[in-house]
Amino acid sequence: MQQLFRRKPIADLVAEGDNPNGLQRVLGAGDLIMLAIGAVIGAGIFGAIGTAAAGQTDAQGHVIRSGAGPALVISFVLLGFACALAALCYAELASMIPQAGSAYAYSYATLGELVAWIIGWDLILEYAVGNVAVAISWGDYFKTLTSGWFQLPVWLTTGYRTALLSSDPTVHGLLDVAPRVAGIPILVNLPAFGIVILITWLLMRGVRESARANNIMVVVKLLALALFVGVGVTHINPANYHPFAPNGFSGIHHGAAIVFFAYIGFDAISTAAEETRNPQRNLPIGILGGLAICTLIYVIVGAVLTGMVHYTELDPSVHADPLAFALQRVGLGTAGWLVALGAVFSMTAVLLVFQYGQPRIFFSMARDGLLPQWAAKVHGKHHTPYITTLLTGLFVATWSLIGDAGETYDLTNIGTLFAFVLVCIGVLVLRYKEPDRPRPFRVPFAWPVCLGGAAACLFVMWGLPAQAWERFAWWMVIGLILYFAYGYRRSTLRRGAPPVPVQHD
Ligand code: ALA
Repeated sequence: MQQLFRRKPIADLVAEGDNPNGLQRVLGAGDLIMLAIGAVIGAGIFGAIGTAAAGQTDAQGHVIRSGAGPALVISFVLLGFACALAALCYAELASMIPQAGSAYAYSYATLGELVAWIIGWDLILEYAVGNVAVAISWGDYFKTLTSGWFQLPVWLTTGYRTALLSSDPTVHGLLDVAPRVAGIPILVNLPAFGIVILITWLLMRGVRESARANNIMVVVKLLALALFVGVGVTHINPANYHPFAPNGFSGIHHGAAIVFFAYIGFDAISTAAEETRNPQRNLPIGILGGLAICTLIYVIVGAVLTGMVHYTELDPSVHADPLAFALQRVGLGTAGWLVALGAVFSMTAVLLVFQYGQPRIFFSMARDGLLPQWAAKVHGKHHTPYITTLLTGLFVATWSLIGDAGETYDLTNIGTLFAFVLVCIGVLVLRYKEPDRPRPFRVPFAWPVCLGGAAACLFVMWGLPAQAWERFAWWMVIGLILYFAYGYRRSTLRRGAPPVPVQHD
C-alpha cells in the first residue's frame, strides 16, 4: 500500500528540470502571461457561453441543463473566485516545483504516485479532450467566417455526435439524409480535423516559433472581444435582462459548470515550467495575472451578449457561434464577421497551448517510467517531444471529426475540476509534510484558501450533467487498470532506478 503512495522527492524534480540536455529554458514572464491568455480565452467565451445562458435539451426534449440567462455574469464572478483560489494553489506548487508536467508533477511530490497517475490521466481530459471541444467550436466560427465565399456540404462540417444529440430537427435530421457507407451515415467535421492537423505540424517544429505565433494571436483575440463589446454595448435592449435569472440559482450553477471551460488554461502554463527562465518568479505572475485579466473580460462580454439578444435565442443547437450571431441579429453583419475572424484566431491560440501542454505531460510521465520510454524522446534539432506531439494530434483530430462540443465541454470540465481539487489539497499536504522547504510563492491564509478552493471546484463539478459523471467514472476505471498493468511495475521511483534519461533523435 505504501508503495502506491510513494512520493517523488522534490529535489529530484528540480534537478530534472535543470537538465541541460532536455527542453530549453526560453520563456519569460511576458511569454507566460501571453501563453495564459492564449490558453484561456477561446471556445468557452466564444462558444460555451451560449449554452450556459440558454441551457440545453437533447433530441428527445429532455433538459440536459438549465440556462443561467443574463445571470450568467454571476456564474462568471463565482467561477473567477473559485479559479483564483485554485490558481493560488497552482502558483505555490508550480513555483516550488519548476518541472514539466503540470498538476501531475506536483502531485507526484505531494500525494504520491497513484494520485499522480490519476491526475496525469485526468489531465488528458483537460488538454486533449478539451482541444476536441475547441476544434469543434473553431469549425463553427470558421463556417460563419467563410459562408460568403464557399459552403462545404453540411455533412462535411457536422460531427456524427452533434447530429445525434441535437435538439434542432434539421441538424438531427442529418442522420437520415447524410450519405451512407455500409449503412453508417457519414457526418464529419472536416474544418475541425484540418486545424488540429495544422497545429500539430506547427508544434512539431519547436516551442520558439509557437510562442511567437501565440503572441500575435493573443493581440488579435483581445481586439475581437473589444470590438464585440465596443459595438455591442450600443445595441443593448434593457428588456433582455428580464428575467435576470430565469432558472434561479440552479441555472447559475449549471451555467457555471459548462462555462468553466472558459477558465481552463491558466494552469496550462505551469506545464511550461521546464522551459521557463526564473520560474520561481515568473510562474506566479503568469498564472494570477492572466486569470485576473480574463475574469474581467468575461463579465463584460457576458453582460453585453445577454443585453443584445434574449438569452433563449442563444440555444447552441441553433446558433453555435453566439457572439457573431448576436451581432448579426442586431444588424451588425460586418462586425459579426470580424468577431468570427477573431474567434478563429483565438481558438487557434488555445489549440496551440493545449497541444503544447499535453505532450509535455506525457513526456514527464514517461520519464518517470509510468508510460513507455519512447514517449520521453526529444527531437534532436527542434528540442520538442515530437512523438507524443504527433500522437496527441492524431487523437484530437480523429475525435474532432465526429465529436460534439457540449459533451466534450462536460468531460473536460469534470476532469479538470477534479485535478484542481487534488492540487488544492496537495498544497496543504505538502505544507504539513515539508514545512521548511523554500516556497518562493506562498498561498496566503492557506487553510481557508486551499479548502475553499477544493470545495468550490467540487461544487462546480456538481453542476454537470449525470452523464458526465458516469463517463468520468469509466475514464478513471480505465486509467487505474492501465496503471496497475504497466506504470506500477515500471515506475522508476518504485524500482529505485534513476529517471529515464532524455533521449535525442
Ligand atoms: N479556456 C479555453 C477555452 O475557452 C480552454 O477555449
